[in-house]
Amino acid sequence: MISTEAKKEHFYIAERTKKIKGSGIRKAFDMASQLKDAIHLGLGEPDFNAPEELKMLLKMAVDEGYDHYTPNAGFLDFRTVLAEKLEEENGIEYDPEKEIMVTVGAMNAIHLAILSIVNPGDEVIMQDPSFVGFEPCILMAGGVPVKVALREEFDFEVQIEDIEAKITDKTKMLILNTPHNPTGAVIPRQTIEKIADLALRNDIFIIADEVYEKLIYDGREHVSIASLPGMKERTLTVHSFSKTFCICGWRIGYAAGPIPLINEMIKFQQFDSVHPPAPIQKAVLFYLSRSNEFVDYVKKVYVSRRDYMVDRLNSIDDVSCIKPHGAFYIFLNIKQLECTSGEFARFLLEKYRVVTIPGTALGDAGEGYIRICLTVPIEQLEVACIRIEKAVKQVLRNGGVE
Ligand SMILES: Cc1ncc(COP(=O)(O)O)c(C=O)c1O
Repeated sequence: MISTEAKKEHFYIAERTKKIKGSGIRKAFDMASQLKDAIHLGLGEPDFNAPEELKMLLKMAVDEGYDHYTPNAGFLDFRTVLAEKLEEENGIEYDPEKEIMVTVGAMNAIHLAILSIVNPGDEVIMQDPSFVGFEPCILMAGGVPVKVALREEFDFEVQIEDIEAKITDKTKMLILNTPHNPTGAVIPRQTIEKIADLALRNDIFIIADEVYEKLIYDGREHVSIASLPGMKERTLTVHSFSKTFCICGWRIGYAAGPIPLINEMIKFQQFDSVHPPAPIQKAVLFYLSRSNEFVDYVKKVYVSRRDYMVDRLNSIDDVSCIKPHGAFYIFLNIKQLECTSGEFARFLLEKYRVVTIPGTALGDAGEGYIRICLTVPIEQLEVACIRIEKAVKQVLRNGGVE
């Protein structure tokens, strides 16, 4: 129970934000940043710097005087290039004037969209585990997160019958993330088609989080659900440059969707972050058509790190992982160890200086797993694996984390 004193002291805090727990990832990050000798496999942020050419373009944009407000939806020439990209690569035609908005990263788009769609009591179906940003936004809007547990036996690809089982007359929306954080699952076309059919039959809106669309391996196909018949009108597609151009800190992404929703999101944006910085919009606009080489390079590095890690981790007794086909995460199964994922992640950090994220920080269905980011050079991954192996052996020997 909160004491009267405490209540008085925090009288100014609204109920809205009290519903939200801080991100478990940030907690691990803050703790680990104080440990000099730790290997950081926690934060889902590329270790590469922004490409040199993009940095040059940013400097040029600053020198050219892009110091002023832009439209709330972002520069129109930028949106026009994004519309071309969405048509060519994702197979969806959007009107750059009315159906696209540039956002302060994908997070901003997701938040604006949820605020614009979800009424108190509306149910929003989402994958479990999932990116930490969805649930707090749903809760802040007064919505009810409804979680579909992902199953390792299906390579963590969401199953249509599991979604179907969660649909009620209160279901308003489904948030669909592919390639998926934290499992690296890439949902195949067949399943996407079935999900589209389900959405049409049950009148469900979709937020398609496609921020890892470029980080896809082994010839897998990225399918944008909005490209399927009848889906454009009921889907908001969310993209980001954070991961593909390794510019998480620049804060830029975009969303494309039906005009009424984009209008509402722009209205909110006017009174929120207003728009992403003008020079960053210009730099990304000019870099887009030149980015292939950089993205191919980054992908190759992630594939070699992934292949190394999957083999090495599977060589350790009593833990295992499947090979992810997208993003840059490995979801390590630690169910054979006599401890929770929270306990194991803490033990790994405190005793062996390896930062990982307990699966439960990403959803209840994450129990029995830890998330490992492939965002350090392979030499560090090698050392991390030695430490993980020692930690696993110690836990097995002691029958727990002491
Ligand atoms: C699935 C997913 N969506 C959205 C985001 C947020 O990306 P941004 O940096 O563009 O806000 C992340 C970041 O980790 C993510 O993993």
